[in-house]
Amino acid sequence: MANPFRPTFGASPHYWAGRRIILDDFAEALSSGPGAAARTLVITGSRGIGKTVLLNEIEDIAATRGWIVLRASARGDIVTELVDSVVPAKIRELDPPTTRRVTGVGITGLGTVTTSLTGPDERNLPRPTLDSRLRDLLTLVPGTGVLVTVDEIQDADRDALSRLAATYQNLIRDDLDISLAMAGLTHGVETLLNLPGTTFMRRAHRYDLGPLTGEDAADVLSTSSQDSGLPFDAAGLTSAVRLAAGYPYLVQLVGSLAWNAARRAGADSISVQQVDSIRSEAVATMGTQVHHPSLKGVPVVQREYLEAMASLASLASLASRAGDGTDGPVATAAIAERLGKTQRSASDPRAKLIDRDLITPAGWGKVAFTLPYLGDWLRGGGTVRRIS
Ligand SMILES: Nc1ncnc2c1ncn2[C@@H]1O[C@H](COP(=O)(O)OP(=O)(O)O)[C@@H](O)[C@H]1O
Ligand SMILES: [Mg+2]
Repeated sequence: MANPFRPTFGASPHYWAGRRIILDDFAEALSSGPGAAARTLVITGSRGIGKTVLLNEIEDIAATRGWIVLRASARGDIVTELVDSVVPAKIRELDPPTTRRVTGVGITGLGTVTTSLTGPDERNLPRPTLDSRLRDLLTLVPGTGVLVTVDEIQDADRDALSRLAATYQNLIRDDLDISLAMAGLTHGVETLLNLPGTTFMRRAHRYDLGPLTGEDAADVLSTSSQDSGLPFDAAGLTSAVRLAAGYPYLVQLVGSLAWNAARRAGADSISVQQVDSIRSEAVATMGTQVHHPSLKGVPVVQREYLEAMASLASLASLASRAGDGTDGPVATAAIAERLGKTQRSASDPRAKLIDRDLITPAGWGKVAFTLPYLGDWLRGGGTVRRIS
């Protein structure tokens, strides 16, 4: 029996749930021909919300329809990477040098083709550009198209990204079958889209990922565990769903830890006791893997705002604890008071934290933490747990 959960960033889950609308929109856009708006998409959200694996699903949809998928890493120069390695590798794959017809300019610069070329001396030909490379590739896949995906675009080189956008826009204008799917952290992407040169991307279909519904989270937990032969019992499932708070990474983590606990105990199903026994480990791991990196670079004033909010949230939730351990909304007036600030001067860190996607407005005059258990983590000192 193997653990059916995968609490690993970027690793596609064994069982997928939710995000149906996005996937359906994309599939439909591929069918409906060049120029369909949903062929250009930007996926945003916090760390662990499921951006990378959604991009993987999108790639799968394209691939099953015979589309070529080009994955460019945002770390580094996307355009150079595409022009010099990703696209040529695909062209080679589709059209090996031995069988390749001489098509002129397009296939030069591949390094391996010089001897098989009977055309003009390649040194005299212009250097391939992203535009020419993609057009060459598109001619090799009549009837389908090319999907370019870029993950972690918040780290992308701005100039390369706007060159990619310009090329993409040209190809769209010529009615070519091309699609572009990008993903990144909400705050970083927002900043990026406000820069000149990315205007085109501002018109992309934008999906800001939130938590999974309770139903979808339950579906992941119950189906995965059942398939593995070690299912949750009814009460165990309810409490795991509550603990996971719909947060995809946490769904996988809670599932994985509880599954291991039940396995170690030699149980034949996963009970409430087992879910309870892994609660603190799940929350601590969430701290190390999500909270800590998410708070990197947050200035002191904003951090103090979060800390004041965390201590107030625990007081508020003592009274009205829903039982899921996530903090309820906190009044902004109370936070300002605790910080010894006027509401006006506390509104600046508040706005910046909303921008950073760390807190969300939650009803009139209130804010709540975006990430589950961020309050717990801050109250615990906000440090990375040392594993001895
Ligand atoms: N729709 C989903 N169904 C089941 N598991 C998911 C889903 N989306 C994400 N996950 C799981 O959540 C974790 C985080 O996903 P990932 O795509 O790496 O997040 P991000 O890229 O936003 O940081 C992974 O373990 C992944 O398998
Ligand atoms: Mg990711």
